[in-house]
Amino acid sequence: MIFYFTASGNSQAAAEQLAEGLGERVISIGLALRDGQFAYDLGADKYLGFVAPTFAYTLPGAVARFIEKLELKGYAGQYTFGVFTCGAASGDEGAALRQALLAKGLGWNGSFDVVMPDNFILWTPLPGEERLAATRAAARKRIDGILARILAGENGTVTEKAPKMPFMPLEKISTAAGTSKLYATDKCVGCGACANVCPMSCVKLVDHAPVWEGECCMCLACLHHCPQGAVEYADQTAGKKRYLNPDARPRLKNTY
Ligand SMILES: Cc1cc2nc3c(=O)[nH]c(=O)nc-3n(C[C@H](O)[C@H](O)[C@H](O)COP(=O)(O)O)c2cc1C
Repeated sequence: MIFYFTASGNSQAAAEQLAEGLGERVISIGLALRDGQFAYDLGADKYLGFVAPTFAYTLPGAVARFIEKLELKGYAGQYTFGVFTCGAASGDEGAALRQALLAKGLGWNGSFDVVMPDNFILWTPLPGEERLAATRAAARKRIDGILARILAGENGTVTEKAPKMPFMPLEKISTAAGTSKLYATDKCVGCGACANVCPMSCVKLVDHAPVWEGECCMCLACLHHCPQGAVEYADQTAGKKRYLNPDARPRLKNTY
């Protein structure tokens, strides 16, 4: 069973490639959080994987929240791994995932990282299409290498040191004085794509206009998925290209 968390599709594409190679099923953590679905039976599954983006060199808050609530039946020492997609550099996310899984009585065979296009456009604007495609092609190759190592039963990176941060804090980083810095401009047509894609269910439509409240995990799914390009973050995203990984098939529901 492979759980993945994604905002712009990189980790989903990675999870789907891994699942195909390992003969496993995939579960979207974002959809599971929205559905309140935390009970799973590993059954005959041989592998337990978590695929997610690196957030501030640690685990996304949404992933930490999901693992905290996870009720997993049928765990019998399956090979358990993490794969992190990052825009440039990984950090403590493997150590953070290890700590979260060990706290649930699960095992740990280590983590692997893979560089994918950087969706954190607040700081780093996206490069051109050719460069994005080249980064994705290199990532697919790297994931094939990771697959070969997992199939051979080799461990990934195992860091026993505690992470500096167990996860990127929910809301604290994404909001100022309780008000999210995410907002919709007058390009918004009230389609609700932002609300439908938010893993934390913190975007509400009020009079056809999105309002951000509650525990945003700052994944930027609302911003990248808006078909009008109407969602902005403070004054840091105006005029910048948005990103969705074209290899990830849109998923609207999980099969539990
Ligand atoms: C809030 C946030 C924090 C991020 N922090 C990092 C980071 O610390 N290091 C890094 O290399 N990339 C970082 N990124 C980039 C993403 O990890 C990367 O683009 C990832 O592949 C996105 O995955 P997704 O398409 O599955 O959402 C960050 C992105 C976001 C939204």
